[in-house]
Amino acid sequence: MEGTRLQKFLASCGVASRRASEVIIADGRVKVNGKVVTDPATKIVKGDTVMVDGKKVTPESSKVYIMMNKPCGVLSSAKDDRERTCVVDLVKDVNARLFPVGRLDYDTSGLILLTNDGDFMQKLTHPSYEIWRTYQAIVRGVPTQNKLDEIEKGIELEDGMTLPAHIDVIGYKGKNAKIEIVLREGRNRQVRRMMEAIGHPVIELKRVRLAALELGELKPGAWRYLRGKDFEALFGTEVAKKMRLI
Ligand code: URA
Repeated sequence: MEGTRLQKFLASCGVASRRASEVIIADGRVKVNGKVVTDPATKIVKGDTVMVDGKKVTPESSKVYIMMNKPCGVLSSAKDDRERTCVVDLVKDVNARLFPVGRLDYDTSGLILLTNDGDFMQKLTHPSYEIWRTYQAIVRGVPTQNKLDEIEKGIELEDGMTLPAHIDVIGYKGKNAKIEIVLREGRNRQVRRMMEAIGHPVIELKRVRLAALELGELKPGAWRYLRGKDFEALFGTEVAKKMRLI
């Protein structure tokens, strides 16, 4: 049958990523032509009316891609029930329904991407694209080479072994070390839990790079649009071309 899968349609409307849209559909929040639909494979054809939580959604015509230096004390989500400031609130005058790609903790700062393109978000967060995430942290004390080797090989956390990672001590702040750690997975509070597990808890944490895209000189709270070379830095030239980003 012709048409677009409901899940993909919602992503193209900027509702959420395809995966997150599946949950929204399963939760019975989506109506097609007035009827609740819970099958993400439902085909949407021209003329269908799709509503999420009672509001009509339509595909976003222009895609927006933004990078921001998230300050500490700001939530990396689009909305908060408790009225705390969210990253999306810091982007003024952009007429698009943005959502953040992945998460940084409330008390983590640094590079976060915002977009209204659900497919882009899906690719960046999907493990098969292996987007390496680089963090810098001040940790309590100075880890020995043996401890760093444990992190490099992978350590046991309550949700399983971590994948091999890179870690280096890159400086000192008083009696504490500044480390740089590069991970290819993005589990909840992963850096904090890994450093805690080797006895050097995180004092401050900042994400400085995604793949080869650097945070650079963006001040906390500042943002800018992504340009052609940024997409290449994220995905490599060939994939960025295939995704029609360049
Ligand atoms: N790891 C963490 O512990 N926190 C973050 O915000 C990101 C990675």
